[in-house]
Amino acid sequence: MRIVDLIQRKRDGEELTPEEIARFVEDYTGGEIPDYQASAFLMAVYFSGMSDHEVDALTRSMLASGATIDLSDIPGVKVDKHSTGGVGDKTSLIAAPIAASAGVVVPMMSGRALGHTGGTLDKLESIPGFRTDLSIEEFRGQLASAGMAFIGQSAEVAPADGKLYALRDVTATVESIPLIASSIMSKKLAEGIDALVLDVKVGSGAFMKRQVEARRLAQMMVGIGRRADKRVQALITSMNQPLGYAVGNALEVMEVSQTLQNAGPQDLTRVSLELAARMIYLGKVAATLEEAREIAQRKLLEGAGYLKLKEVITAQGGNAQVLDRFELLPNATGVREILSPRAGFVSAIDAAYVGQAAAMIGGGRATKDDTIDPAVGVILEVKTGHRVDSGGVLCRLYYTNEANVDEAADLIEDAFRISANAPEERDLILEVVS
Ligand code: URA
Repeated sequence: MRIVDLIQRKRDGEELTPEEIARFVEDYTGGEIPDYQASAFLMAVYFSGMSDHEVDALTRSMLASGATIDLSDIPGVKVDKHSTGGVGDKTSLIAAPIAASAGVVVPMMSGRALGHTGGTLDKLESIPGFRTDLSIEEFRGQLASAGMAFIGQSAEVAPADGKLYALRDVTATVESIPLIASSIMSKKLAEGIDALVLDVKVGSGAFMKRQVEARRLAQMMVGIGRRADKRVQALITSMNQPLGYAVGNALEVMEVSQTLQNAGPQDLTRVSLELAARMIYLGKVAATLEEAREIAQRKLLEGAGYLKLKEVITAQGGNAQVLDRFELLPNATGVREILSPRAGFVSAIDAAYVGQAAAMIGGGRATKDDTIDPAVGVILEVKTGHRVDSGGVLCRLYYTNEANVDEAADLIEDAFRISANAPEERDLILEVVS
């Protein structure tokens, strides 16, 4: 079986066998397939799609590329949460500690920035000292002691996803339903969970631009989970504007701290609490979803999630004081204000543009070996529906290097739509797939 034949057959829309898919994953992970052929294969999948059989086979092969963590001897129901990727999406760092503080065991395997979207691992690594490279034994130990731990996919766990994820990021092959579904679900099935809450983002700042595509992705992941005997619920949530006000790694950690102290933005709090409630419900801490919502709300008000995040940061080598003293986080050296060209209502903020601008000044990667600048990003001053004056500040761009600031500022200016009338308010949670 030659790889070029697999690429050709996928390009022509044929269904590959599980053996062929396994061969691709094994050989690419093993370094026997060069990046240029793997890129062509990914692009063929992007255009031709995959059947449920193929996506199951791809997920299984990616899962089999590393170890599956056995958490059965740790008491409690293990529930993780994962987002398909958004801009300013820091809900994992809020929902997970709230759920863990309620008694759910949360093994969380997260990803890095992908395309214009941020990644939980990069946000955590902006905390001085924080280690995301726990060994499996350390991960298990921390779950037993703290009830929550963050890791990244590694050479031990789901290594195929690590390689493919980085390659997709720089070959314009991220926005593919089967590639996203297999990437997420292979990591999730490797970490020994009982249940999973998915946040499938839809809108300008998401990989899925239309609700019908988001629904298909949600159904595909829920189906993969069900066939693997896991309870999975997916929320489809709007990502037409950034979530909260902060976009950028250290800036988002600051907003997480405020939100866990019940002083965060309303949209971010709303989605995070609903995700936490679903984790609490699937974690069997509450008999009904209504009860789970009350518990999540109470934990937020008590500051229990905030204390849990501090405990976990300390356990993973980080300086937990950053949640109170933001000057301990990496800070930008320059700031550029983006002003409104006219008075009116903010009728749209294109989240993709904001994410691209943040990536352009160092918050994301242009090649897979680039390092992230944790200090940079964007703080919005207004959100959709707010009134602005002519010359009023729309947002601030924080940077450490002047290089791409002019270009990023132009992009951000284009992200804002100012209209005479206030736009209609819409709930962020659009649909549930289970
Ligand atoms: N998150 C992942 O883990 N993988 C993707 O492909 C997209 C979002």
